[in-house]
This record gives sequence, structure tokens and C-alpha cells, in this order.
Amino acid sequence: MKVEAARFIGAAAVPGEYPRAELPEIAIAGRSNVGKSSLINALLGRRGLARTSRTPGRTRQLNFFLVNEAFVVVDLPGYGFAAGPAEEREAWGPLVEGYLTDRVTLAGVLVLVDVRRGPEGDEEQLLGFLRARGLPAAVAATKIDKLGHGAAKSALATLARRVGDEMPVIGFSARTGAGRVELWRVMSTWVAACGRAGRPS
Ligand code: GTP
Ligand code: MG
Repeated sequence: MKVEAARFIGAAAVPGEYPRAELPEIAIAGRSNVGKSSLINALLGRRGLARTSRTPGRTRQLNFFLVNEAFVVVDLPGYGFAAGPAEEREAWGPLVEGYLTDRVTLAGVLVLVDVRRGPEGDEEQLLGFLRARGLPAAVAATKIDKLGHGAAKSALATLARRVGDEMPVIGFSARTGAGRVELWRVMSTWVAACGRAGRPS
């Protein structure tokens, strides 16, 4: 995928603030600090487009990025952040699940899991939610640069066994760019399938 143009088109803390549902959307989900914003910047080749931080839980809205005037990438708020008021933590579930349930233009969901941690309670729940709804989904195992080649390979195999056959598991590093081509391949099929289906806006 050649990214000719990518720009921020809006942030939303409630459904009424979403941009109009006109184009296929790819949602990027995962716990706080797993590397969602870094993955978006790396895939779009735009350093600093999605904000990244060392302070977990900074992205508490949905952020929408228009790519090639053809589809939209959505940076979902990170769940499970330890910091922050309890009511913000509790707001995560309805906000993200509401988006994933109701967004008519949703083409696919990329679930990020730290390759060193594997899926934890929240991730298992999200994967179960996506399976139950039959939404196109894939797992990106992030920060694989933090493991050596052998350790990364075995961690990916373990993750793939846990995730099951219906979702691809792709190792990714925002630092080295590993996995970019494979992720784009999967995401392009989602966008193409969504376009063909001609989902309503
Ligand atoms: P929230 O917005 O808080 O939910 O976090 P996020 O999921 O958007 O994570 P973010 O992209 O901000 O990255 C969190 C931290 O992990 C930052 O310090 C990044 O530099 C680091 N990081 C992200 N991706 C990678 C990676 O592939 N390799 C390494 N080594 N570090 C990474
Ligand atoms: Mg972020």
C-alpha cells in the first residue's frame, strides 16, 4: 500500500462526534501503551500523526485519520490503563464496544497484543467479542524488536495457537517496520471487501 496522503479528520469522545460514515474504516484496538499510535504512524509513514506517549492512557478519544481519500484508520482509546479516574476506565467499555457494534462502515479490526505479554483478560474479551460478531479481525503482535529472533518466533507461535485459525497473527515493530507489508495486505482486503459490499452510510 502506497500512502499518498494521510490526515487527521477528527476526534470523538461520544458517538455524535464521529465523522460521517462514508468510507471503510479500520479500527486499531488494544490496551494502553501496546503501541497503537506508533503502529498507525509507522503504517502511514507519518511520524507524529497519531500522538504517542510514554504515559499510558493518554489517548482517551477515538481519533480518525483519512488515508488516500479512500479509507479511514481509527485510533481507539487504550483500555486497562492503571492511571486515571475509575469513571474514565469504566467509560472505555461502552465507548469502544459501542463503536465496534454500531459503526456501519467498520471494515475490520486490528487488535494489538504485546508480543512479550500475550493476550490478557481484556484482550481475550475483545477477541471473543469480535469472534461473536463475525467482524474481520487480525492480531498484530507489537514490539517484536524487543525479542531476539528465536524468542519472537516462539512467542508468535504461542500467540497464534491461542488466537486460533480464524484470525491471522502478524508480528510487528514500529521501530524496524517489520510486519508492515503483511499488515497492509490484510487491511487492504478488508477495505476492498467493504467497498464491494457497498455498506450504507
Ligand atoms: P495509548 O495511547 O496510551 O493507549 O498507547 P498506545 O497504544 O497508542 O501506545 P504508543 O504508540 O503511544 O506507544 C507506547 C510506548 O511504546 C511508546 O514509548 C513507544 O515508543 C513504545 N513503542 C511502541 N511501538 C513500539 C515498537 O514497535 N518497539 C518498541 N521498542 N517500542 C515501541
Ligand atoms: Mg495512543
